Amino acid sequence: MAKPKLFATHALFEAPKQRLSESFDAEFWTAPNRPSRSEVLRRVADKDALICLLTEKIDEELLNAAPNLRIVANVAVGFDNIDLDACSRHKVAASNTPGVLDETTADFAWTLLMAVARRLLEGDALARSGQWAGWNLDQLCGADVWGKTLGILGLGRIGQAVARRARGFNMHVIYNDAQRAPTEIEHQLHAEYLDRDAVLAQADFLTLHVPLLPETRGLIGAGELAKMKRSAFLINTSRGPVVNEAALVAALENKTIAGAALDVYEFEPKIGHGLLRPNVVLAPHLASASVETRTKMAMMAAENVIALFEGRVPPNLLNPAALEFGPRQGLR
Ligand code: DGY
Repeated sequence: MAKPKLFATHALFEAPKQRLSESFDAEFWTAPNRPSRSEVLRRVADKDALICLLTEKIDEELLNAAPNLRIVANVAVGFDNIDLDACSRHKVAASNTPGVLDETTADFAWTLLMAVARRLLEGDALARSGQWAGWNLDQLCGADVWGKTLGILGLGRIGQAVARRARGFNMHVIYNDAQRAPTEIEHQLHAEYLDRDAVLAQADFLTLHVPLLPETRGLIGAGELAKMKRSAFLINTSRGPVVNEAALVAALENKTIAGAALDVYEFEPKIGHGLLRPNVVLAPHLASASVETRTKMAMMAAENVIALFEGRVPPNLLNPAALEFGPRQGLR
């Protein structure tokens, strides 16, 4: 029997690649540049499964271009690149990679936080410049982290992992979320639930861990930035459009806040010129980028695809509605 056809928009890593090649007639995108939209549309035309990255838009057009498609497995926990309703209408299962990147992402949120607070990049630039004349009392003095107040917007798995790390810095953790965490979690994390304005007003470091949804788009705009302390720092490892970038640039220019550390951008991969300033640490969407974690993410996407074609429900299925039995889909 012919193997189902799969297209992965990335070469993935060796283990998931091997695993997929056993059961699929698999095509992997191996060129160094990302495939263009037209290339993706062309490649999915005869495919039964697609493994994609968060940079690929999975919408009506793509689903129409892929009449045999049964699953789209995103190699990311965030799935704002996927139109889930459209997938369900087309009876195409969609999956993501939750859980495996929480700790790695939390590590990176802290990397950014520490880097911006302690002016690490400015120090690195000075150390490499050949201009460093030696220790000086007021040289590149930053802000203390220990003992300060950490504000978290979004206390899901990643937000909680960030909060756990704050204990080692003897910080006061305050948070807001659309859904308040169970008391047991609040106790474990020593996290105090406050309304959003209070978190904005009290945080010395405000870190964002919400998914991108219509209600979180522009969550941090001019009004929110104006409520923050002038000495506060904003850290964003969630999704770029959660922050209104023009408002952030204006706040940095006006010294409404002290600085920012960003891994994601409103118009990614474009980084607004106004963000190129010494009190802003910039990373190119790296928060989950450890070899271990990215390999696990790719393997998880592979397992979701394999599950469907073995007649099981993909473990990280996002749209159960897609798996109602129908002419195109179903657990065959
Ligand atoms: C995700 O998984 O959503 C991140 O942004 C990339 O790891």
